[in-house]
Amino acid sequence: MDFEQELDLLIRASYPIIFVPTPEEERVEQLIENVTRYGSQRRELFVWDFVDGMRNGLAKNNPVQALNEVEKAGRGDPAVFILRDFHRFMEDIQVARKLRNLSRHLRQSRKTVIVVAPVLRIPQELESEITVLNLSFPTREEIQNELEHLLQQVTVRLTQGGHDALVKACQGLTMDRIRLGLARAVALYGGLDERAIPLMLEEKKQRVRHTQVLEFWPSTETLEDIGGMDILKAWLEQRAAAFTEEARDYGLPNPKGILMVGIQGTGKSLSAKATASLWQLPLLRLDIGRLMGGLVGESEAKTREMIRIAEAMAPCVLFLDELDKGFAGLGSSFVGDSGTSARVFGTILTWMEEKTSPVFIAATANSIESLPSEVMRKGRFDEIFFIDLPSERERREIFHVHLSKVRPDRIREFDLDSLAFQSERFNGAEIEQSIFEAMLMAFDQRREFSTEDILRAMSLLVPLSKTMGERIQRLQEWAASGRCRPASSDAARAGMLGQLFGGAGLGE
Ligand SMILES: Nc1ncnc2c1ncn2[C@@H]1O[C@H](COP(=O)(O)OP(=O)(O)O)[C@@H](O)[C@H]1O
Ligand SMILES: [Mg+2]
Repeated sequence: MDFEQELDLLIRASYPIIFVPTPEEERVEQLIENVTRYGSQRRELFVWDFVDGMRNGLAKNNPVQALNEVEKAGRGDPAVFILRDFHRFMEDIQVARKLRNLSRHLRQSRKTVIVVAPVLRIPQELESEITVLNLSFPTREEIQNELEHLLQQVTVRLTQGGHDALVKACQGLTMDRIRLGLARAVALYGGLDERAIPLMLEEKKQRVRHTQVLEFWPSTETLEDIGGMDILKAWLEQRAAAFTEEARDYGLPNPKGILMVGIQGTGKSLSAKATASLWQLPLLRLDIGRLMGGLVGESEAKTREMIRIAEAMAPCVLFLDELDKGFAGLGSSFVGDSGTSARVFGTILTWMEEKTSPVFIAATANSIESLPSEVMRKGRFDEIFFIDLPSERERREIFHVHLSKVRPDRIREFDLDSLAFQSERFNGAEIEQSIFEAMLMAFDQRREFSTEDILRAMSLLVPLSKTMGERIQRLQEWAASGRCRPASSDAARAGMLGQLFGGAGLGE
């Protein structure tokens, strides 16, 4: 349901006070006017603000008087009243009391008060009288219309593809921002052409940065940068075209997301980033720590805002890194921050289950113990992947990936077999680190580094898995119980063997 339909319904159902938090005052007032004029029931429309008052300057500078006018106005005819910036006055005891008294009258006389304010701020005593209605970002159609309008006035050099890309680049911005951005493009380039697209994308990055909880994450990594994990890679490749129009026409649903579980340094974050570049989608990273900080009520508001923006940026990949850290402690008891994290978490989970928009969630977790069990429930992720320590064959691939990056011409000179054999229980990050250590040692003596240097570096490094043996074992047992899929066929085989002979085996 879009904003107008929803508002129409609320007005018809005599909801007395509606709060629309939005910076887009002009746009929302236009939409409200549309509803009062062309909606299912016509309503007279009044607008009040602090400086100009209501019609003929009534109740200027006087919010209590404004509410009196609401009570008197319209001689009993149904009406809608827009009160601009009224969140500022609702903290006042007189105003709050008057609003509560008024709400019964409003319902009976079929009047609706709509508070339009840039931020959502509702005093507790008014919470039950007020309904919040969110205005989403301009739809594709609204942006199309705006563009059409603009295109009549300026010189245009845009192909159909460029036109579509420009509309897409505008999605997720307020109408004001779109207008400003496009005006800037016209001023800069003397017309509208492809160069407007990066300009709008830049506006969008600014916007996302403003939320402080979302961030555009660069994703230059590709599947070639990942060693091993053949099953996971094949899964991702099979869905590379899943977000295209073609797939939608074919009747395919949008993939929902994956959760990758495994100890640190096994390439989970790397795989999330590679997903975005493989699918050529923007990668948005959610900072869960920041989401939780701040005042009471703020986290919930930020969560809704985050969801709104992610959906407006769709299709995109939403990167929820280290879920277990962000929501630690939720699994056992819902105590602590007065239930804030439980509510935030609940909101995100519900959204994940219900969303149909093309927002693909790439989540990672280092452990399962501190992960609330609801996360694993069916319907939240398409697949949960277990990422084990790399097998010998996979370690060879990882050495190949990283050595090719630093010494593409000399790759044949390295003894990959022996490196892979000697690096038992190393994870990908440690393999990468040993190569750097070897390079440092050799560079110190101003000579090229060799297999022997890497082997020496490896012997000096204590892999994480040595100290985390028990945790890895638990993860492997959990994986073997069939609640998730192994990311690599080697691990799958080892897991099966482990089950046969009791105790989970390691991918060797
Ligand atoms: N399977 C792998 N293939 C290639 N490089 C890897 C692999 N696993 C880890 N790495 C290297 O280690 C770095 C850190 O890995 P990361 O993805 O952050 O691990 P995690 O998120 O699982 O803790 C990566 O950027 C990459 O350079
Ligand atoms: Mg990580």
